[in-house]
Amino acid sequence: MRTKIVAGNWKMNLGYKASIQLAKEIENQVKNTNQNKTRVLVAPTFVNLKGTLEQLNEGIVEVAAQNMHQAENGAFTGEISAEMLVEIGIKTVILGHSERRAYFNETDKALAEKINTILKHHLETIFCFGEVLEDRKAGNHFKVVESQLKNALFHIKSDDWSQIILAYEPVWAIGTGETASPEQAQEMHAFIRNLVAKQYGSKVSNTVSILYGGSVKPNNAQELFSKPDVDGGLIGGAALNVADFMGIIQAANL
Ligand code: PGA
Repeated sequence: MRTKIVAGNWKMNLGYKASIQLAKEIENQVKNTNQNKTRVLVAPTFVNLKGTLEQLNEGIVEVAAQNMHQAENGAFTGEISAEMLVEIGIKTVILGHSERRAYFNETDKALAEKINTILKHHLETIFCFGEVLEDRKAGNHFKVVESQLKNALFHIKSDDWSQIILAYEPVWAIGTGETASPEQAQEMHAFIRNLVAKQYGSKVSNTVSILYGGSVKPNNAQELFSKPDVDGGLIGGAALNVADFMGIIQAANL
């Protein structure tokens, strides 16, 4: 059985104290209720990674970074390298989020390089991709998702897939309150799993977790997560509120 995963992407929210407070509250509640069925991660901003990690010494809630540069080091003002993340104890990095693609010009080519850096440093990634509204309206969503995966990810080896978590995030559903229906999510997730199967075989495709992201809330999580190819969620807005985030984790446990 695939691991269920619920990851909270805090984006550019929460200061130092607020990050630690929220992370600890989640840890306390998960400890009492989760029984380790679902992997739970939170992704604070870079400056709050170390402080948050140090407060979560029980490992019940994992801490992920929201991005990483592809180069080992050098003149890349404002960027963070894999080695810097590894040194403070980070094991998982979100890559390719649609906000990175849209506002910071992250291309498939740059993402392919980032994936190589992830593999080299034995990190794990939550790799995000998904179509914009125009693509969905034009019926191009499958083609877009296929090219995003092929261009950035499908050069890796079969063994490398143990370091990959996929996150399908239709851009039109992120932060908009509009969610893909459970049927739309399942249809795309099955398509993605099939693409992985065609390229890498069923052993890889049956073990890779595919998360859904885009306005997941406690009241829609259960139906989304009940679909056979939806293995959890990448959560933005609802991850900033303990009760909402816990509601989503509970839905993944059912
Ligand atoms: P949202 O964000 O849950 O606020 O729609 C999801 C994401 O950006 O990962």
